[in-house]
Order: sequence, then C-alpha cells, then structure tokens
Amino acid sequence: MNLLVTGGAGYIGSHTAIELIMAGHDVVVVDNLSNSTRAAVSAIETVTGRDVTFFEYDIRNDSRLDEVLACRAFDAVLHFAALKAVGESAAQPLRYYANNVAGTATLLDGMNDYGIKTLVFSSSASVYGDPDTMPIGEDSPPDPKSPYARTKLITENLLHDLHDADPDWRISILRYFNAVGAHPSGRIGEDPSGVPNNLLPFVAQVAVGRRNCLNVFGDDYPTPDGTGIRDYLHVVDLARGHVKALDYLAGAGGVSVHNLGTGRGYSVFEVVHAFEAASGRKVPHRVAARRPGDVAVSWADPSKARDELGWTAEYDLERACEDLWRWQLTHPRGFSTRKA
Ligand code: NAD
Ligand code: WQD
Repeated sequence: MNLLVTGGAGYIGSHTAIELIMAGHDVVVVDNLSNSTRAAVSAIETVTGRDVTFFEYDIRNDSRLDEVLACRAFDAVLHFAALKAVGESAAQPLRYYANNVAGTATLLDGMNDYGIKTLVFSSSASVYGDPDTMPIGEDSPPDPKSPYARTKLITENLLHDLHDADPDWRISILRYFNAVGAHPSGRIGEDPSGVPNNLLPFVAQVAVGRRNCLNVFGDDYPTPDGTGIRDYLHVVDLARGHVKALDYLAGAGGVSVHNLGTGRGYSVFEVVHAFEAASGRKVPHRVAARRPGDVAVSWADPSKARDELGWTAEYDLERACEDLWRWQLTHPRGFSTRKA
C-alpha cells in the first residue's frame, strides 16, 4: 500500500515506518521537525535499505499538505503528528488544541479532498484518566485529566462524527500505553529534546552519565513498593500493532478502538532494576515528591487487540531496556552524536 505517515520523524512514527516498509508498504513521511530531526528519516532509510520521501511541512498548512497528498495515490494515512508533553499542555493549552485537534481536522479535510478515507490514529491511554479497576479495557469510561489527554479524546470524538457523516471512512483508533525501548539495530531510538519527561529516557541518561540522579516521583502510592506502576510497551511491538491495524481495516469498516499494551505493570523501582541489569550500570536515584497529575497504577487489558487485530506484545521490559541501552550507548546525545 501507499502510506502517508504524519509525524514519521518522531519516536513512534519512525519505528512504525520501519515496520511498514519491512511489511512491503511504500512510505512517505511528513513532519515539521518540531520534536524530531531529519536524521531519524535517514535512519529509517539505513535500517530498511529503502529511500523514504520526506516533506518537512506542518500538517496545519493546507497548501503544503495538498502537495503531500498529491504526491502518491495514498491508500491510508497513519497519523502520529502531535504535541505530547502533558505538563506543557497545561501551560499552553491553545498550542495543544491548535496542533493536535485543528491539525487533525486540516489533515482529515485534505484526505477527504483526495478520497483517502482510511486512517490509523495515535490515541493515548491517558484518555482513561484514573480508573478504579485494572486492567483497563476499552470500555473503561474516558476521563482525561490534562489538556493533552483531552485533545486525544476530542479527536477520537471527531473521528466518530466523521464516520457517522460518511460511512466510507475506515478508522482505527489505537490507545497506546507507555512506549519504551529502541530499534534492535541500535540505529534509531527516542531522542527527547531537553530534560526527558518520561521515565525510561531519563533512566538511560543517568546510566550513561549525562544526568546525575533520577528523581522517583513518590514512594507512597498504594502499590507494593510505593512507586507508580505502568504498562511499558516496546516501541517495535507498538509499531507492529499499526501494521496489524492496517490489515484489520482492509477487512473492516467503521471506527475501531484498541488498547495497545502488554497487560503487565511494572513499578518505577522495578524499571530501575531492570535497566541496571540490562546496562550493567548503577542508576543513582532518590525519592522526590509526587508529580502532580500522576496516577498510581495503569495497565492495559490488551485482549481486544489480540482477538481482533491478532496482535500481542512479544518483547518484555528486559528486552526494551537492552535495546534502549544499545541506542543510548551509541548515541549518548541522540542523533547528533553517533559514536562508532
Ligand atoms: P514524537 O514527538 O516523537 O513524534 C511526534 C512527531 O510529530 C514529531 O516528530 C513532531 O515533530 C511531529 N509533529 C508535531 N506536530 C506536527 C505538525 N503540526 N505537523 C507536522 N509534524 C508535526 O512523539 P511520539 O512519542 O512518537 O508520539 C507519536 C504519537 O503517539 C503522538 O500523537 C502522541 O500523542 C502519541 N502517543 C505517544 C505515547 C508515548 O508513550 N510516546 C503514548 C500515547 C500516545
Ligand atoms: C512513568 C512513571 C512517574 C519520570 C506519559 C503520558 C502519557 C503517555 C506516556 C502520551 C510514573 C515515574 C517518571 C521521572 C519518575 N504519553 N517517573 N521519575 O506519566 O505514565 O505517561 O507518557 O500519550 O500520556 O502521561 O509516563 O514515563 O512520564 O512516568 O519517577 O523522572 O515513572 O511518576 O509513575 P506516564 P512517564
């Protein structure tokens, strides 16, 4: 299939582009590089041995988007392009709504003009908020706690409305849990700008000596060791979920919603120990105050994705730590500093 990947220079989009190409698809990437670099696109080409057509455009620019959509007879779009920092979204809600919601509306409008009506959308487990029961199934009522999470839920609603108005649309909404790890080749991985917000990139930067100490945000949660529990999903597993979602859409119309997670939760301390084992390095850490907005526990019920998409996570946390460590060691400052 001819596929357009928005946000394809970013962390999950780039890993998904690799899996799509390996599955035989032709991939075009559009990304404004607001949170990524062109080097990620080169890395996709290195890993796959295939050229990737790349447009450094913003999806909100409709004339530029028109140029992109006209460049191939696209069969489907995988839409990753979004801003994703939860804390930042509370400080800059207009920027988040403009980019994530209005940006998606512009994209959908353009797709409609070109008769492209198949979409895989990157949603987030953050739409669930803080449910009472674990694991979290897709029928858990949405209760987003941040502007970021609300942009995801509003976009989901937009997609349902779009399908109601025009049943030709085929839409897969994937609610990701916590994406971690890097490609096993060591040539591509997450490259956060500034201080990482997320646990694993921060741990990796401490292990490699770029930061001194990890702050563990709270050890007084109602969990066995007092630290927060999350469902950490290897980014390659997550990427493969998109290949499965595309296959599913080929046979199913409508709007589908699937959790992508492992179904297993790990605490912050368990993550630290797993990373120490994978890297052979100590990860100095100290307990700090809880981070506002954090929930105690979150892990997926991924059985719907297993039953309907034929997808299950294959890699465990240990493997994700090993792959992240390979990437971190060879690229201690991300793409800009590749070591031999
Ligand atoms: P990322 O920031 O690495 O990738 C997003 C990419 O989109 C970046 O390369 C950025 O430059 C690009 N982009 C942003 N706005 C754009 C615009 N207006 N026009 C063109 N390009 C634009 O983030 P990621 O972790 O790869 O996340 C990908 C998607 O998955 C996002 O939609 C995010 O909300 C969602 N998601 C991520 C996680 C996670 O654990 N990382 C979890 C749930 C959902
Ligand atoms: C994991 C655990 C922290 C950093 C976020 C978004 C979510 C999704 C994935 C996009 C928590 C603890 C963290 C640190 C720590 N993204 N922690 N010290 O918050 O589960 O999810 O990323 O959709 O929407 O909210 O992930 O990696 O930030 O935190 O102790 O320096 O690690 O308190 O328990 P989170 P995270």
